[in-house]
Amino acid sequence: MNLPRFLSLGLSCAMLFTAACSKQPAPASTAANPAAAPAKIKLGFLVKQPEEPWFQDEWKGAEKAATQYGFDLIKQGVQDGEKVMGMIDNLAVAGAQGFVICTPDVRLGPALMARAKQRGLKVVTVDDQFISDGKLMLEVPYLGMSASRIGGQQGQTLFSEAKKRGWRTEDTAVCAVTFEELDTARERTDGSIAALQAAGFPADRIFKAAKKTTDIPGSFDAANILLTQHPEVKRWLILGMNDSAVLGAVRAMESRGFTADTAVGIGINGTDCLDELRKAKPTPFSGSMRVSAIGEGYRTAEMLFKWVKDGTQPALDTRTEGTLMTRENFEQVIKQESSQP
Ligand code: GLA
Repeated sequence: MNLPRFLSLGLSCAMLFTAACSKQPAPASTAANPAAAPAKIKLGFLVKQPEEPWFQDEWKGAEKAATQYGFDLIKQGVQDGEKVMGMIDNLAVAGAQGFVICTPDVRLGPALMARAKQRGLKVVTVDDQFISDGKLMLEVPYLGMSASRIGGQQGQTLFSEAKKRGWRTEDTAVCAVTFEELDTARERTDGSIAALQAAGFPADRIFKAAKKTTDIPGSFDAANILLTQHPEVKRWLILGMNDSAVLGAVRAMESRGFTADTAVGIGINGTDCLDELRKAKPTPFSGSMRVSAIGEGYRTAEMLFKWVKDGTQPALDTRTEGTLMTRENFEQVIKQESSQP
C-alpha cells in the first residue's frame, strides 16, 4: 500500500472512531445510572387490511419517518375488533406511547379510544374515521382522502372515456360498486356519481352494486349480481371506492365476455392496480386516481411522533389529493411522487 493511501485510510478510521464515540451517551447516564438514558420512543401502526398494497405503502412511509426521527415502529394487521383491543394492550406492555390506526370497523371508535386512554396511548386515525352514535368522532386526529373531490375526478374521467370511445348513452350503464357504511367510501362513490350526472349521464342508467366486504371477491360478487340483473347493457363504466372495488367488478365483467372495448373502470388508490396496468394486453381497468399512501403513512407517523415527543397537537382533519394515472403514465406519476419530499 502506498503512503498517501495508507494515510487517508488511517484518517478515515480515526474519523469513523470519533463519529462512533460521539454517538455514545455520556458514561454517567449509562453505566452509573441506566435510567437516565432516554428510552427510544415506540409507536404502533395498525391497519385493517395488511394484504392490500395501499396499507403496505403506508407502512413504508411510516418506516421512513421512523428512520428519519429515530423511533421504533411496531406494524401490525388488525382485521377485527378483538385483534385491535389485544394489540392496544400489547403496545402498552411493549412500552409504546401511541399508535396510528386504520380501523377494521369505524364503530369501534369509542371502545378503542377508551382502551387507549386507559393505557395512556395517543391515537391518530388514517383513512377511515371513527364513528360514535352515528356521528364522526371529529375530536380524534384524522388524515385521509378528499373523498368527494377524488370521487368526482373518477366520475369525470369515466365520462370522458365513454365520450372518447363514442359510446351511446342508450347502450351504456354505470356499475357503481358501493360500501356505504364507510363514510369515506360513500363520499367517494357519491362524488363520482354526482360528477357523471353533472356531465350529463342519465341517473336512471347508474346502478349501485353494494359489496359486503371491501376486498376483490366482495366486489366481484356484487358486480356479478348486477350483471345478471342487466343483461341488456352493452357497455359498462365502472366506479368504486378503491382499486379493489373496481378490479373485482372488472373480473366479473371479463367472466361474462366484456373486454377493454366494451367496459372501462377507473380505480382510486393507484397502489393495488399496478400489476393490472402492467399487463401487456389492456383490460377494462384503464386507470386510477393515485394518492400517495407512502405520504399518508409518513405524515401520520410524523404527527404522532411530534405529539408524543414535544406535545405538538396534530391537526384534527388533514386531507390528501389524487392524480389520475393510466396505463400510459403510471410509472411517471409514481416516479414524480417519490421525488417529492
Ligand atoms: C379505505 C380503503 C383503502 C384506501 C383508504 C384510503 O381505508 O379501504 O383501500 O382507499 O381508504 O384512505
